[in-house]
Order: sequence, then structure tokens, then C-alpha cells
Amino acid sequence: MLNAPNPFSELLIATHNQGKLKEWQNLLAGLPLTLRTLRDYPACPEVVESGATFAANARIKAEFYRDFTRLPTLADDSGLEVRALDNAPGVFSARYGDAAFTDAERSRYLLAQIRDVPMHARTARFVCVITLASPLSNHVETFSGVCEGSIAMVPRGTKGFGYDPIFIPDGHTQTFAELDAEIKNRISHRARAAREVCAYFQSNTLR
Ligand code: IMP
Repeated sequence: MLNAPNPFSELLIATHNQGKLKEWQNLLAGLPLTLRTLRDYPACPEVVESGATFAANARIKAEFYRDFTRLPTLADDSGLEVRALDNAPGVFSARYGDAAFTDAERSRYLLAQIRDVPMHARTARFVCVITLASPLSNHVETFSGVCEGSIAMVPRGTKGFGYDPIFIPDGHTQTFAELDAEIKNRISHRARAAREVCAYFQSNTLR
């Protein structure tokens, strides 16, 4: 429950994705906030994600859409870091290899880059950074979540999206695409960062 009074009744989730909105509605259920998305602002231009880090991109998005809407705005940026690839694809996760690749082609391309890397050296992690930008000031809050794991030898499973079929979270033998969504939603990088956001709203006043 919201303990601290907030001067806003609306919060913009900087996404066009209805799935992400649903996730946030669940996470922030109980807070007296009406959630908006970019679908409520069809005239809003797209921002260029030109940052070199997840945090830079999340901040660029949060501040851009906050400035357009004058609403408190949450924006996230996430991706996969593979140790054997010097933490690539990182901020280029969505367009790694070729922007026109399907998710399955992109995963296969990544597997090809580490074809000769043995299982013990295939460590990787998903990272999610979420930025909250306030319309009252230049103040931003940053939250992050990490899910450690490793890259499978071949794709497995059909659930989820992106690199899920090749990512095995630590403590499990199945990939994210094989595990129940309920498990992924509990241990994922995004879930961990989102829990921090919830805790923030429960005990802070936006300034
Ligand atoms: P975005 O931050 O939602 O734009 O995600 C960037 C890219 O990172 C996605 O296009 C995926 O390729 C990858 N990615 C981020 N989170 C996940 C995940 O939970 N599973 C699989 N791939 C992910």
C-alpha cells in the first residue's frame, strides 16, 4: 500500500507494449495510480536510444517522455551480457547480428559466436535498468535488477521471447523458454528491478 502521499494520480509507463502494461498493473496493484502508456499519446515522437549503457538509455527514454507528457514516467532498458563476448550484445541485444533477424535467428547467431566455448565458460546475465523521471524537478531515480545464468548449447523451449530459449538461469537446468512464466516472473532481471520500484512507491513521495 502507498504510505507516502504522492502529488500525482497518474504514471506513464514508457512503452507501446500492452504486455508490459499488464505486468506493471499487477506489480503496482493497490497503489492509487492510473497507469498510462505511449498508446495514450499517439502524437508523441519516438526517442532514439543512443546511450552506451542500459542506465543511459533508460534515462533518455524516461526524461524524453516525461518532458512530452509532463507525467511521472517509468522507462526501462534491458538486455543480455555474455562474458565470453566481452558482455555483448548488451545495449545492442534487440538488434544483435542483423536488425532484421527474428528472435530465433538472433539466438542462433549468438550461439554461433560462442560455438567453441565450453559450458563452464558460458556464463551470462540479463540486466534491467528502470528509471523514474519526475515532472516536478530534474530528479530521477534508478533501479536495477540482474539475473545470472549461462548460455545453453542449443535453443530449448517455446515460451517467452528474445533470448529466452538459450538462457539458463542459475539454480535451474531449464531455459527461460522451458520454465513456467510464473518462475521467470519471480526471478527475472525485470522482476527484481520492478520490485525495487514498488518498494520505492510504497515509501517515498515523488519530488
Ligand atoms: P527491451 O529493453 O525490452 O527493449 O529489450 C531489449 C532486448 O533484450 C530484447 O529485444 C531482447 O532481445 C533482450 N531481452 C530483454 N529482456 C529479455 C528477457 O526477459 N528474455 C529474453 N530476451 C530479453
